[in-house]
Amino acid sequence: MDLKLPSHVAIIMDGNGRWARARNLPRVAGHYEGVKSAESVVRLSRELGIKYLTLFAFSTENWKRPREEINALFELLEGYLKEKKEELYELEVRLRFIGRRDRLPQSLVKLMETIEAESDKFNRLVLNLAVDYGGRDDIVRAVNKALTEGKKKLKEEDFSAYLDLASCPDPDLLIRTAGERRISNFLLWNLAYTELYFTETLWPDFREEEFTNALRDYSSRERKFGGILNE
Ligand code: IPE
Ligand code: IPE
Ligand code: MG
Repeated sequence: MDLKLPSHVAIIMDGNGRWARARNLPRVAGHYEGVKSAESVVRLSRELGIKYLTLFAFSTENWKRPREEINALFELLEGYLKEKKEELYELEVRLRFIGRRDRLPQSLVKLMETIEAESDKFNRLVLNLAVDYGGRDDIVRAVNKALTEGKKKLKEEDFSAYLDLASCPDPDLLIRTAGERRISNFLLWNLAYTELYFTETLWPDFREEEFTNALRDYSSRERKFGGILNE
């Protein structure tokens, strides 16, 4: 593929519920199928040489869902991570988690910490999983951290360093599946100049071909960052 590739791709993985409903299945069946799409995107990103992939798995607003679905989502995530972590290490994927940890099940938080420590040495692909993540919450936590350190005034770059994605460049491309055209409180600060790509495809149907289409579209974009192109 002769494409100008993004170095950081962020994805709002949406449409699992609709995918399941269309098949008369429980919503959680859509989440299970969605995991396979996440795997496929991880593998292709790694093969293509994309350096950072950030996936929105659970938002600070998703607590509004029925307890049953919330529990199923955390069980799915924990089970998946336990089962697949070694495979991800073999692929030299470094896993990191962004978002709050104070409201998640203890066992999940422990596993997240273990995985972050164990995969620390890899750098083929950095995979950030956003769990109990909200862009506003990220900003407020960052402000509070700075205040706790006694900071009185900050520059943009100093402020970025307090955010969950401090060590990653801003996303070059944001993909949202399932037809919704909104940010839903994802990376509010970091998406300032990100190229946006929306597709009707539901997340469980978003596999290699769909991802390649998004990358091709990105490749044709002219990024100006407020400047003008050299002619
Ligand atoms: C995205 O799919 C997964 C999460 C938000 C956890 P949804 O569950 O939002 O699916 P729809 O939007 O109801 O189809
Ligand atoms: C955004 O999807 C959050 C995740 C994909 C984890 P939602 O389905 O929760 O977003 P809204 O409610 O349509 O904005
Ligand atoms: Mg949704």
